[in-house]
Amino acid sequence: MTAPGRAPLLVASNRGPLTVVAVEDGDDEVRRGGGGLVSGMQAALSATPEAVWVCAALNERERALARQAPNGRVSELPLVADALHGDFDVRMLPIDAQTFRNAYNGVANSTLWFVLHQLYDLPTSPSFDAAWRRQWASYVRYNRAFAEALAAEAAPDAAVMVQDYHLFLVPRMLRELRADVRIGHFTHTPWVTPEYFTTLPDDIAAAVVDGMLGADVIGFHTERWASLFRDTAQAVTGATASGVRVFPLGTDADEMHKLAGRRSVDSELRVLHDVVGDRSVIGRVDRTELSKNVWRGLLAYRELLRTRPEWHGRVVHAVYNNPSREDLPAYREYTARIERLAQEIDDEFGTEDWTPLLFDIGDDYPAALAILRRSDVVFVNSVRDGMNLVVLEGLVLSERNPAVVLSRETGAAEVLGDDAFTVNPFDVGATAAALHEALLLPPDERAERADRMRTAAVRLPPIPWFEAQLEALGPKSR
Ligand code: G6P
Repeated sequence: MTAPGRAPLLVASNRGPLTVVAVEDGDDEVRRGGGGLVSGMQAALSATPEAVWVCAALNERERALARQAPNGRVSELPLVADALHGDFDVRMLPIDAQTFRNAYNGVANSTLWFVLHQLYDLPTSPSFDAAWRRQWASYVRYNRAFAEALAAEAAPDAAVMVQDYHLFLVPRMLRELRADVRIGHFTHTPWVTPEYFTTLPDDIAAAVVDGMLGADVIGFHTERWASLFRDTAQAVTGATASGVRVFPLGTDADEMHKLAGRRSVDSELRVLHDVVGDRSVIGRVDRTELSKNVWRGLLAYRELLRTRPEWHGRVVHAVYNNPSREDLPAYREYTARIERLAQEIDDEFGTEDWTPLLFDIGDDYPAALAILRRSDVVFVNSVRDGMNLVVLEGLVLSERNPAVVLSRETGAAEVLGDDAFTVNPFDVGATAAALHEALLLPPDERAERADRMRTAAVRLPPIPWFEAQLEALGPKSR
């Protein structure tokens, strides 16, 4: 047993609420993590004295900073304290570079992400060999580092909220170190059938499920993922999983309007307007991520232009991609492929006075927000997606009562229901037809549907989402 610390509330996640990047003169610059989820958890932590967020150092600079900080408490370093928004501590774990790389790239973002999003090309992958086993050993060590830090920081009876597939083993490990704490785990990704999950080696599948079952409350975005997890737990361990609960994360309309109302976004919107004029805009914003299915999204747009030439000159597809996980060759190759396809579409249809496709890869958040503000159709066709917050953000931000074309394999499809045009993400023809229908939706009906979907999109914004999970953990026992 580990001696208790002082924090009554802890969050654990791979990516923390801040990142350290090198700026031109070689100095460190600390940036706050973006996004609704981070601000929601920050708000909840700030409301609790002595709350702690435990995260991994993601790069060499962060590791150096974490080693320098007393107990890894980077929030005590002036550089970080100035940048942090909110009154809580951040403990960053300086896990050695190779262990981190193996755990994050090798296991979490390759094996686990690929299993949970069904991204494998089954005739050739996955294959689990001795080299993979070494990566798994790193994943175990990385999870143990989190469990030990949490055990050391947690006050008696503390609530510990563990996030996502990077940390599947933490609940059980922490439970063994500290029997008194209340543990929640939330999976932000989908879950899969027992048949697909057991492409993992049997002992690994069992270790993952058992790791999660160490938590008192196991959260998912939708009933579909929760029930697949129950089925998997039953199949893999023979046990009936209790404490599995559904907390569909929504978006925070005020926060989104604040972000999208900045002058930098207004000026991007003017630039966009100069290009698209009064044409209809099909907008999408994603990470350059295999599961987002930009590839078939572009194929569907090409099919729309090929089969329904009446749209030539009347529609623009605006695609914004935020670079992601570029250390992984599969991601780099995928990005290169979608870039080539975008070029082909432009070559096939572009004319002197019509640019059919605006395709950008970059880190320009204002440009991405401008697309959402201008979208007539918000387009998400993920292969599989735990929730997909972008479609919810698009609904809140679009100034044009958008129609939504949405993959039925997303959590958001469960939240938005029949008001979205849901599609099979593999059926390019049906997706093209759905884009056509969405573009043709009469203004009145579009407004009514958008209105209902907006209401659903903001039902459980990050702060109440987080609080609902704390409540599900039950009161402190003393
Ligand atoms: C998904 C995961 C998050 C992750 C995010 C960005 O939404 O559920 O845990 O942080 O992708 O991925 P990255 O690898 O850049 O942290």
